[in-house]
This record gives sequence, C-alpha cells and structure tokens, in this order.
Amino acid sequence: MKRRKIHPSGPEFSRIITGAWRWQALSDQSVDALIQESLENGITTFDHADIYGNYSCEALFGNVLKNQPSLRSRIELVTKCGIKLRSDKKPKTWINHYDNTSNHIIESVNASLSNLKTDYIDLLLLHRPDPLMDPAEVAEAFRLLKQSGKVLHFGVSNYTPAQFELLQSYVHDKLVTNQVEVSLFYYHLIFDGTIDTLMRHRISPMAWSPLGGGKYFSQSDRDEGVQASLEEMAARYECSVSQLLLAWLLTHPSHMLPILGTTKPERIREGAKAIEIQLDRQDWFALLRIARGRDVD
Ligand SMILES: NC(=O)c1ccc[n+]([C@@H]2O[C@H](COP(=O)([O-])OP(=O)(O)OC[C@H]3O[C@@H](n4cnc5c(N)ncnc54)[C@H](OP(=O)(O)O)[C@@H]3O)[C@@H](O)[C@H]2O)c1
Repeated sequence: MKRRKIHPSGPEFSRIITGAWRWQALSDQSVDALIQESLENGITTFDHADIYGNYSCEALFGNVLKNQPSLRSRIELVTKCGIKLRSDKKPKTWINHYDNTSNHIIESVNASLSNLKTDYIDLLLLHRPDPLMDPAEVAEAFRLLKQSGKVLHFGVSNYTPAQFELLQSYVHDKLVTNQVEVSLFYYHLIFDGTIDTLMRHRISPMAWSPLGGGKYFSQSDRDEGVQASLEEMAARYECSVSQLLLAWLLTHPSHMLPILGTTKPERIREGAKAIEIQLDRQDWFALLRIARGRDVD
C-alpha cells in the first residue's frame, strides 16, 4: 500500500483508509477482523467520529485496542467532533445541531480518547461547518489540545474553500486536510474549486463515500446502462467495478485518500488492491462521461 504525507506539516497516512461509520451492529470479533484485514493490506489509518453508530463506534474500536495495546503504534486514528445528535445517550440534546465551541471540542476529544482507549489522536477534524462558530475560540481549543499532546494535527470536514480560509486565518497550525464527499457519482467538488483550493495549500483531501455510499450497488438505485458501461470497463482492467471507482479517485492529482465504508473484510482486501490500477487518461474521462451522461465540452 502506498503512503502519503497529507500536508508538508501533516501526518503520513495509508493512501486508502478504513472508516468506522457503519460499524454499529458489529461484534468485537468482526471489528477486530476489519482492523486485521486492513493492516494485512497496508491500511493503517482509521476514520472515526464521536457520533458514529449513535456514539458507539469509537468504543467498539477501543475494545480491540484495549486487548491489543501494541496495535496503537502501528496505526493512525482520525476522529471528528462538532455535531450533536439527539440520542438516548445525550438526554440534554433535544435538536440535532452543530457545536464548535471550545468547551465542546475539548469535551468531545476527552470522550473520544476514553472511548478509543488511546492517549492521543493523530488527526482531529471539525465534522461540519458551524454557522455559530467563533474561529478564535476554535484556535484556542486547538492550541490547548496540541499543547497537552492529546491531538497531533487538525483539519476540517465538509468545508467550502471560504470556510476553510476563514478558520485557517485564525488557527496557528496548518489545517492538514478537508474531508469531503467525492466519488464518480458526486464529482462536483473536483470542478467547483474545493479540491483546487486544497491542492493550492498542498493538502491531500480525504474522500468520504468513495463508492457513493454503496448506492450504485443497490438494486433500486442503480441505472442498468451505467452498470453495463462500468462492468465493461472493469472487465477490460480485469478488476471489479468498486476497484474502478476507487482508481478514478486515486488517479486525481490531488492525491486524495478514499475512505472505505464497508463492513466486510473481503471488501477491504478488494478495495486496497485498487491502488495497483493504472487508469488511462481517456478512460478517466470515459468514466466521467458514464456518470454525467455527456462528454466534456
Ligand atoms: N466527514 C463526513 O461527513 C463523512 C460522512 C460520511 C462518511 N464518512 C466517512 O467515510 C467512510 C466511508 O463512507 P461510506 O460508508 O458511505 O463509503 P462507501 O465505501 O462509498 O460505501 C460503503 C457502503 O457501500 C457498500 N458496498 C461497498 N462495496 C459494495 C459492493 N461491492 N457491493 C455491494 N455493496 C457495497 C457497503 O456495504 P457492505 O458493508 O455490505 O460492504 C457500505 O454499505 C465512513 O466510514 C466514514 O468514516 C465521513
């Protein structure tokens, strides 16, 4: 597996990342199997958020780390904060909302550290832009978290270029990524300046839902014509359609890092192999045409 320093002052991650969003219903054994399969295939970076699985997925991962503490030095942990969801575990939250206040950021990191059974987080992301965010307050929270050694690097998720620039203008450390939704089925950030802005900052974006959240694979959502075209190209590359969709992202010069959302070890193995595919330039545009339904102008 290739590795990538996601910013000149940032952490080095595996080029493909495993994400824990959908792990809620898994047993400790299944979570262990996903972690081991990731490591065996060179995936060392794991993406979390405090809220995943109704605030439960970090602790599932932490159970594995508790039993195998030596794993910690072989992996990188990303987690997020700033969304507050209504939950039986959060009786005071009566409406879903965002909270990027200093108090909440620090409390959330402390809870993540305890759930993940670790004493540091490699990369903390603000999960969504909060319209009530005071950037100076975020900067101070980040400073304290860095000073205490609880968080090594900081970034954002789902930020527009303007929101990114605003926060960066207050935060002392460089923001090292913006984790955004990108896939062949959701490609507009490649064209609207979001990815270009990250490239200008020498940042590799993290790509969530790289397979469109699995929509392509569901019988009800998929388009038979699109499916036939994708399968035809996949056959030519002697790979699966999901590998082709990952190769489309991996080919982009921003060096984006797709985050696999599967709950199945065999699909981790399959996804990791996408790194080996050399996608021809014209085929990259042919895939874009399949998704858009028309040629570029
Ligand atoms: N920052 C954010 O706001 C944000 C938002 C959403 C997600 N994320 C992160 O991104 C990660 C990935 O997101 P995602 O889960 O939407 O990614 P994804 O990889 O695009 O989608 C995963 C879904 O696709 C299904 N799938 C994959 N390959 C398949 C195949 N060959 N056939 C049938 N179904 C297939 C999986 O089902 P199986 O489990 O059955 O394989 C799973 O339900 C998350 O875990 C999370 O870490 C971040």
